[in-house]
Amino acid sequence: MAVLAWRGPQDNTVSIIQTTHLYHRFADDTQGLCDVSLAFNEGEFTVIAGANGSGKTTLLRHLNGLLLPESGAVTVCGKSVEEDPMAARQQVGMVFQDADSQIVGETVYDDAAFGPENLALGRLQINRRVTRALEAVDLCGFENKRPHHLSGGEKRRLAIAGVLAMAPRVLLMDEPFSNLDYPATCLVLDQILNLHSNGHTIIITTHDLEKVVAHAQRLVVMADGRVVEDGLPTEVIDGVARYGIRPPCSVQLGKGIRPWMS
Ligand SMILES: Nc1ncnc2c1ncn2[C@@H]1O[C@H](COP(=O)(O)OP(=O)(O)OP(=O)(O)O)[C@@H](O)[C@H]1O
Ligand SMILES: [Mg+2]
Repeated sequence: MAVLAWRGPQDNTVSIIQTTHLYHRFADDTQGLCDVSLAFNEGEFTVIAGANGSGKTTLLRHLNGLLLPESGAVTVCGKSVEEDPMAARQQVGMVFQDADSQIVGETVYDDAAFGPENLALGRLQINRRVTRALEAVDLCGFENKRPHHLSGGEKRRLAIAGVLAMAPRVLLMDEPFSNLDYPATCLVLDQILNLHSNGHTIIITTHDLEKVVAHAQRLVVMADGRVVEDGLPTEVIDGVARYGIRPPCSVQLGKGIRPWMS
């Protein structure tokens, strides 16, 4: 069993997820991750940024056992994910980058209910959770529609509803704002902030910091499968352009640079 960082819910600074010298190589020999050691504290709101192909999705998929390490370890609540991926998935919910790959139900309602049904909740509780989750992403009235007929943004909102309905202790969201228009972005962001204020641990990947970084407590930057920066957003944000990440407008305007010129 790998390093145990979990010290129990009464402790103020526990790592709910920890990766230790994590490496991943894909079957075609691409090095996806290289020596990633990160500890995520319970209740923390982290944004992981990086250019295309920097390893963000690969990292997230290790945090709930969808990918297993070539070497190194991942623990959730002190338990090795490799040894017990099911236990990890009960704590850690994930919204995938590709919303289509997350569709499991014949109807919008069934799709959002899939997670809570697997938690073996009673029918009333499932109904309540699904209704609330669909309301939260503004998909009421879509219950009987086929998920594959939804627009790209609606599919993403449905994927988010499915994870909201499970209320996992840790929420991983891979590019949650892609495809969303402004009102949907605000809705999803509100839900994320709500979950965070209720004590959930949030880890979001993006290469578009604008929408979310102002709310995050920590900014991790990845490049070529490695963690290259990790700290408070105010400390890290100034240097992100060198890793192919567009700095938020506020940072650029503060320096007199027009954002569209960067
Ligand atoms: N199944 C796979 N087989 C081979 N290589 C892969 C596989 N999945 C990802 N990769 C490669 O691993 C690297 C990291 O990919 P990953 O999807 O983690 O990047 P990302 O940071 O999420 O990028 P994006 O911003 O485009 O979503 C890339 O070079 C990618 O081509
Ligand atoms: Mg990705």
